Amino acid sequence: TRMAVSKSTLSIVLIVLGGLSVLFGTVLVFVGPIIIDDQIVKNVEINPNNGLSYTMWKDIPVPFFMSVYFFHIVNPDEILKGEKPTVVQRGPYVYREKRWKDNITFHDNHTVSYKEYRQYFFEESMSVGNESDLVTIPNMLVLGASVMMENMPFPVRMLLSATFKSFEEGPFLTKPVGELMWGYDSKLVDFLNKYFPGMLPTSGKFGLFAEFNNSNAGQFTVFTGQDDIRKVHMVDSWNGLKSVNYWRSEQCNMINGTAGQMWPPFMTKESTMPFYSPDACRSMELVYQRPGMSRGIPVYRFVAPKTLFANGADYPPNEGFCPCRQSGLLSVRTCRHNSPVFISHPHFFEADPVLLDTVNGLRPNEDEHGLFIDIHPVRKPGTQNKNCDTYLNFWKWSFSILLIHSAWLCG
Ligand SMILES: *[C@@H]1O[C@H](CO)[C@@H](O)[C@H](O)[C@H]1NC(C)=O
Ligand SMILES: *[C@@H]1O[C@H](CO)[C@@H](O)[C@H](O)[C@H]1NC(C)=O
Ligand SMILES: *[C@@H]1O[C@H](CO)[C@@H](O)[C@H](O)[C@H]1NC(C)=O
Ligand SMILES: *[C@@H]1O[C@H](CO)[C@@H](O)[C@H](O)[C@H]1NC(C)=O
Ligand SMILES: *[C@@H]1O[C@H](CO)[C@@H](O)[C@H](O)[C@H]1NC(C)=O
Repeated sequence: TRMAVSKSTLSIVLIVLGGLSVLFGTVLVFVGPIIIDDQIVKNVEINPNNGLSYTMWKDIPVPFFMSVYFFHIVNPDEILKGEKPTVVQRGPYVYREKRWKDNITFHDNHTVSYKEYRQYFFEESMSVGNESDLVTIPNMLVLGASVMMENMPFPVRMLLSATFKSFEEGPFLTKPVGELMWGYDSKLVDFLNKYFPGMLPTSGKFGLFAEFNNSNAGQFTVFTGQDDIRKVHMVDSWNGLKSVNYWRSEQCNMINGTAGQMWPPFMTKESTMPFYSPDACRSMELVYQRPGMSRGIPVYRFVAPKTLFANGADYPPNEGFCPCRQSGLLSVRTCRHNSPVFISHPHFFEADPVLLDTVNGLRPNEDEHGLFIDIHPVRKPGTQNKNCDTYLNFWKWSFSILLIHSAWLCG
């Protein structure tokens, strides 16, 4: 039989690498009375003698929830014939996230190193649906491998196509949510690991979060604040690095701010909330937007600036994060084993509107898809101080992970 290889550039663009939109919805309530205290400075520093507040820093006592939404592809067959993809959001599939710090080592210069571990447990009662739900998403293996092999000689690509075909791997994949998240067995993965070692990030099962459970996001060394409370929680180094080397400019490679859960006290509306995210491979910062109420408590809302994922043409300081596509997409290829992975806000919120035209079914809106943290401004009792001692109260943040592809498919 004759095998035809056709380069099918599935419409323009983006289909969703697991059209996945992760919502790290979180409630971190630090109990009031501990913070509204004249001893605030003493309590805020990271110090094993600080009993309760140290325990809270070490074993974060409130649960985090990670809500995962999938974009289920409604029309896979039509897409192959050139139609626009239509997606329907499924979920949330909610996971309770337990976090704790381990390997804690204090250094002489008022810094402390630790690793923060995380564990996930499915919360069916908070989810819409369960982990057995079947969802159709792009086949990340096939699309990812195709993009990575794009510049290989023709015979190699032929071999790849034949391989996909013989393993019955198509451009789309229908599997239970639990397997897409935490890994499924794939003969193709076994094959690739044998003949192209190092190509895949995993040597075991393949899944969107296969490596996450019981893992840590690297070793953080942060300031304890014992010498200067304004530095508490600020990152001194990550995995021993003072800056990363994923990006093309010094500024973009900087490790700024904290590890993203706590910030120094005395924040005001003029403050920014910088943090370094190993998952996004870069530093980001949130800026004050407006006052508001959250669960009956007055809060300040800090949000991601509109320029967070803007491309270098729209926002020159982001040039270092390029090569860029449309604004709204951050390519994290350099820190994801060279696989074509992008980060964006869910539903392409605050992205170039052109992106919305590539897929049917996306409806971005700020309330659901914006990244924000609500801070409860706590005042010291008995003072008129308008400066606020803060504690991080509610924070929600969300990203989608997308795959831009122009795939090689077997005809
Ligand atoms: C971290 O701590 C665990 C046990 O608590 C230990 O098994 C592991 O070797 C430590 N890792 C490092 C890098 O120190
Ligand atoms: C603090 O000490 C640690 C361990 O000796 C070192 O790696 C780090 O660079 C020091 N940081 C500062 C700010 O001096
Ligand atoms: C994560 O790991 C823990 C401990 O090994 C396990 O109990 C839990 O079921 C795992 N979670 C998922 C979602 O697989
Ligand atoms: C998931 O839900 C379906 C239908 O609601 C049900 O039939 C199935 O038993 C559930 N699966 C699990 C693992 O609870
Ligand atoms: C880190 O902070 C510096 C100084 O505030 C800023 O110029 C730089 O753009 C920041 N880098 C990132 C990646 O946020």
